[in-house]
Amino acid sequence: MKQTIIFKKESLNDAAAVLSKGGIVAFPTETVYGLGAVATNKDAVTKVFDAKMRPSFDPLIVHVYDRSQILPLISGEIPELALKLMDEFWPGPLTIILPKSDIVPDVVTSGLDTVALRQPNHPIAQELIRLTGHPVAAPSANLFSRTSPTSAAAVLDMLDGRIDGVVDEGECEIGIESTVITFCEPVPTLLRPGGISRAQIESIIGSIVVLGSLEKKSSAPGRSLRHYAPPCPMYLDLPESKMDKSNAGQICFTADQAIEGFEHCIVLAPNGDPREAAHNLYSALRTLGAIGLTAIYAVTLPEDGVGAAVNDRLRRASVNGFEGMSQE
Ligand code: TXA
Ligand code: MG
Repeated sequence: MKQTIIFKKESLNDAAAVLSKGGIVAFPTETVYGLGAVATNKDAVTKVFDAKMRPSFDPLIVHVYDRSQILPLISGEIPELALKLMDEFWPGPLTIILPKSDIVPDVVTSGLDTVALRQPNHPIAQELIRLTGHPVAAPSANLFSRTSPTSAAAVLDMLDGRIDGVVDEGECEIGIESTVITFCEPVPTLLRPGGISRAQIESIIGSIVVLGSLEKKSSAPGRSLRHYAPPCPMYLDLPESKMDKSNAGQICFTADQAIEGFEHCIVLAPNGDPREAAHNLYSALRTLGAIGLTAIYAVTLPEDGVGAAVNDRLRRASVNGFEGMSQE
């Protein structure tokens, strides 16, 4: 066990110094908290995999504070369509995959010849990366397969004593991870739905391919079907007749979906806005997960906008989310 230091924004310099010296520090972004290491320091990056107990085949996103910082990390020019997305959505919750240069160690990309890049839109994340003086590789700051943290307390719940520090700057606004799109396939391909919707992307660059949830592709590792899981089984979209309400909890999108007889019920979006549901999703999973319930019953949202990303996370967190779906 090591002592995990809690940094505030006044001590960002100290957090950056820990990173520059090869330590690992969690920090807030607009999506979820990330667990950072200097991307070009392979020993530091290895510590991130160890602390999270993350399998080495699941590559990390490299975070930059401005766009010029990606140039040494990639090989070749930035494709025109990728540039258009950067112009529109960076800084922001969009991760773009491009061919990598030799500077990026294999441990970051799990041996792939591509690298995932993101410029976060969070002043603390940007300032931390700037002060560190290097791009920062950072997966979500959770133990492997568990719910991504949206507060420093949630990071410490899972990683206290396993990481050098955490910058505590409140809750993340978006609440679910970035959208991941690759430009290393014949057609731009969406690998993970997230904070930027498919429709937003297609409005800028035209039609893209969306990788199906069950599709396996060697260029898109780390898409395990069980992910974000609370400690008890969670069931999605079950009819009330199949629910066992004793010692169980419910997660619904809007208040009118609440079913009588549950002692614990969380409404994700009292105002019906899927963005609010995204913001509240992981804390709802954590809150209900901490009570020691026997089961959680949840419902999917309409698939529009960020609803698609919330549904993707709900399916991966549940035991039955992919039932009845054929292998695409
Ligand atoms: O919002 C986010 O993206 C957060 C914050 C911290 O930035 N980060 C995050 O990282 O969610 P992580 O490691 O939990 O998820 C990264 C995803 C994984 O599914 C990984 O497999 C994929 O991106 N990925 C990373 N590099 C890749 C690559 N070169 N090719 C294909 N997929 C890649
Ligand atoms: Mg993650």
